[in-house]
Amino acid sequence: MMDWGNVMLEEFERWRPRLFAWALANLNQKYERAVANYKRRLFQDLSGTVVEIGPGAGANLPYYSRGVRWIGIEPNPFMDRYLTRQAQKLGMEIEIRRGTGEQLPLPDASADAVVSTLVLCSVSNLASVLAEVLRVLRPGGRFVFLEHVAAPEGTWLRRLQGWLRPIWMRLGEGCQPDRETWIALQRAGFATLDYSGFKAPVPVVSPQIVGVGIK
Ligand SMILES: C[S@@+](CC[C@H](N)C(=O)[O-])C[C@H]1O[C@@H](n2cnc3c(N)ncnc32)[C@H](O)[C@@H]1O
Repeated sequence: MMDWGNVMLEEFERWRPRLFAWALANLNQKYERAVANYKRRLFQDLSGTVVEIGPGAGANLPYYSRGVRWIGIEPNPFMDRYLTRQAQKLGMEIEIRRGTGEQLPLPDASADAVVSTLVLCSVSNLASVLAEVLRVLRPGGRFVFLEHVAAPEGTWLRRLQGWLRPIWMRLGEGCQPDRETWIALQRAGFATLDYSGFKAPVPVVSPQIVGVGIK
């Protein structure tokens, strides 16, 4: 007999990357308005070769100065059309490379800056991604990030993040709502690391941290 539960799950898994790309491109406007000032400050001084890990549908493209050489490392091929469309709208040249943060397809010390927003929650090996970021950054280069992280221990939100984790990871392409990303950042080996936290107007994936690590 056909196991309809399994069939539906398999179909969902097949469609998930497409659905995720569509949702990122179409449902994030309210969140993006809320973080616009953080992003403006974070991106304003970036120049030269800028590598964005997991750029998704291109929410960050409007914040780059015109002169940057932008390379996006994106594992989900269904993001490409949204990224390309957004770049065309902005008159920006972009280069998309298929890959992951765990193994950046870039030479050592080749980037002036690396950018990550809402990506470190989903990577399968956070320590490897940060080691790769440091490998591809030139000395003095910057890693700029805006990420959602675990709520403080003992809060109801932290408990909720823990309860929801299995289903959230399944629906959200591996996104872990209670990841203590700041600990990995502190251990990664940046020469300096500055970040601050803020409450984002979204359920579950708040608080968030915004900051810069310098190689
Ligand atoms: C929540 S979306 C964020 C997209 C975009 N950075 C933004 O702020 O709108 C997470 C993105 O990370 C990508 N991603 C997931 N795992 C990754 C990995 N291991 N390395 C690089 N990107 C990854 C996903 O395909 C997706 O584009």
